[in-house]
Amino acid sequence: MPAVTTLRLGTPLSPSATKVMLLGSGELGKEVIVALQRLGVEVIAVDRYADAPGHQVAHRAHTVNMSDPDALLAVIDAEQPHLIVPEIEAIATDALAVVEQRGVTTVVPTARATQLTMNREGIRRLAAEELGLPTSPYGFADSVDEVREVLSRTGFPAVIKPVMSSSGKGQSVVRGDDDVQAAWDYAQAGGRVALGRVIVEGFVDFDYEITQLTVRASDESGEIETYFCEPIGHLQESGDYVESWQPQPMSPVALEASREVARTITTALGGRGVFGVELFVQGDDVYFSEVSPRPHDTGLVTLGTQRLSEFELHARAILGLPVDTSLRSPGASAVIYGGLDEVGIAFEGVDDALRVPESDVRLFGKPESFARRRMGVAYATAADVETARDRARTAASRVRPVSAT
Ligand SMILES: Nc1ncnc2c1ncn2[C@@H]1O[C@H](COP(=O)(O)OP(=O)(O)OP(=O)(O)O)[C@@H](O)[C@H]1O
Ligand SMILES: [Mg+2]
Repeated sequence: MPAVTTLRLGTPLSPSATKVMLLGSGELGKEVIVALQRLGVEVIAVDRYADAPGHQVAHRAHTVNMSDPDALLAVIDAEQPHLIVPEIEAIATDALAVVEQRGVTTVVPTARATQLTMNREGIRRLAAEELGLPTSPYGFADSVDEVREVLSRTGFPAVIKPVMSSSGKGQSVVRGDDDVQAAWDYAQAGGRVALGRVIVEGFVDFDYEITQLTVRASDESGEIETYFCEPIGHLQESGDYVESWQPQPMSPVALEASREVARTITTALGGRGVFGVELFVQGDDVYFSEVSPRPHDTGLVTLGTQRLSEFELHARAILGLPVDTSLRSPGASAVIYGGLDEVGIAFEGVDDALRVPESDVRLFGKPESFARRRMGVAYATAADVETARDRARTAASRVRPVSAT
């Protein structure tokens, strides 16, 4: 029998407060913060730039270079949160391991999970080599010659990615020997650190790809149980999600296989919270691609589709509260891009967007817009996914970013 402990939530800004610190306070963090605020949690938002989306809805905001371990430890020591919730990968995760070791603060889901998932090598070796999950054929390389050597095993086409990068940065497809040098150079320019190392992955000619949102949360006896959301289908352009929908229709065999993969990888990572397990599906075959130990951008659709969004699920799970992953309605989301490079832009057409049936819009409040920066999202529900996708796309297209000057 597990020790029965009474779960308590305090009053924010008082000595009894339950304190949660977000490391990274973008649009996903902002929604987690709102969910925590509703439960009376005291929230501290940290980001690398001032007035980040989550900064604007937290009790306190800090602007910190989170890849600097000393700066990170300083803000954690000053705030002494009960829980630390990483929202991004570019964090000094060794410092999180130090904090976790002290035994006072919980890192969500675990410091080790943040260490393994910030580097494609860590998570890929765990998934494929330790857990035996099916993945694309792959290898790692530190030079163009080594890339060629791996390609001789994976064959063409293949995808080359810096081991430390996200949102498709530095990632490209090589179709023949002539592409290799350019792909290497592109990866060197796009990586998060000047490490040089890349992963070479055989291209999976999938029928569709999904995010299997998976929640590790307490069951009635206080033990950690694994819960699954309905699968989310999505469309990626240049490694960035542009549309997502839920539920993605799947064969029963592929759905079962997806959940088995998701259960295996999330159990290995441990802790509590939402995980976004990215999978490629080809017929009844499922390939593990990667996993985020946190809510996933394609899961923004759950703001409309689920009884509890992935952000509310994350908030509940990390606090030890029960979860409900049920779908309320089929739905879809479509990204609203900045379209222009400018500080303090404005948006027109939100009124027209909201005239689309069953639609809603989130504008993230990012202080600076770039042409391809995600500034908002539109989402909609409908009786079927196709109608919902039309609605979400229409709503997103009606929001027009405009220069405010
Ligand atoms: N081996 C592969 N075969 C086929 N397509 C791939 C492969 N690897 C990546 N892709 C495509 O590129 C997209 C982005 O790849 P991946 O998720 O590895 O990169 P990322 O930079 O971590 O992206 P994000 O941060 O948006 O999840 C995938 O969702 C998929 O559409
Ligand atoms: Mg991905």
